[in-house]
Amino acid sequence: MYSITYLGHAGFLIETDGVRLIFDPFITPNELANKQIDVDSLQADAILLSHGHADHVADAERIARNNSGATIVSNYEIAVWYESKGLKVHPMNHGGKWSFGWGTVKYVAAVHSSQLPDGSYGGNPGGFVVRTPSGSFYFAGDTALTYDMKLIPLTCGRQRFAILPIGSNFTMDYMDAAIAAQFVEVDVVVGCHYDTFGYIKIDHDAAVAHFAEKGIKLILPEIGKPFVI
Ligand code: NI
Ligand code: MN
Repeated sequence: MYSITYLGHAGFLIETDGVRLIFDPFITPNELANKQIDVDSLQADAILLSHGHADHVADAERIARNNSGATIVSNYEIAVWYESKGLKVHPMNHGGKWSFGWGTVKYVAAVHSSQLPDGSYGGNPGGFVVRTPSGSFYFAGDTALTYDMKLIPLTCGRQRFAILPIGSNFTMDYMDAAIAAQFVEVDVVVGCHYDTFGYIKIDHDAAVAHFAEKGIKLILPEIGKPFVI
C-alpha cells in the first residue's frame, strides 16, 4: 500500500513499508501549494530528484537540512552538487540500480534537459523505478513520450502505478502520457506537472476521459490531501 501526498507540480510524498520518499519538491515558490503544504514539517528518509530544474529541486536542500537522516538520490552531477553543500547523497546514472535499506531504486531514461538553479550542469534527466516490499512504481520526472518506457515492464516487472507529467509544453501532454501508460503497462496513473504555470494548464475532464477511453484511471491529485493506492 502506498500513501501518496501531492506536494504540487511534480512533487510527491510517498509513504510505504515504513519509508518516506519525497520526489521533486517545489513548494515554497509554488502559489498553488505553499499554503497547503508546510515544508518544514515534511519528514523524509530519501529525497529523489529527477533533474536539476528549479521547479523540481527548489525545496530539496531545506527538506534535507530538516531531515538529517535523509539521502538525496539523483544523477551523479546533481548528487555531487548537493554533496558540496554538506548534504548526504547517493549518486546514480541511467540504467543503474541500488538497494537501499528500504527498497531498490533504478534510474531510468527521460527525454528532457537538466540544469541546476545556479547554472551548474545538472547531468542528464531521469526517472525512477522504486521497488519496496509493497511492489514497484514508476516516477517519470519531466519527459517526452519515449519508446524506452517499454523497457520498464521488461526490466523492472509489473508497476502498480506510474506518476507521469501531463501538462505539455515542457513535457509530454496527457495524450502522449496515456500512450506512456500503455508502454509501462499500468492501469493507474497519477498525473503531475500541469496547471502550475500558464504554459501547462490543462482541461481536467478531457484528460481523465482520454485515459478512461483506454481503460486507464487518471488520478489528478489534490495538493496536500493524502490518498492511497
Ligand atoms: Ni524540467
Ligand atoms: Mn519541470
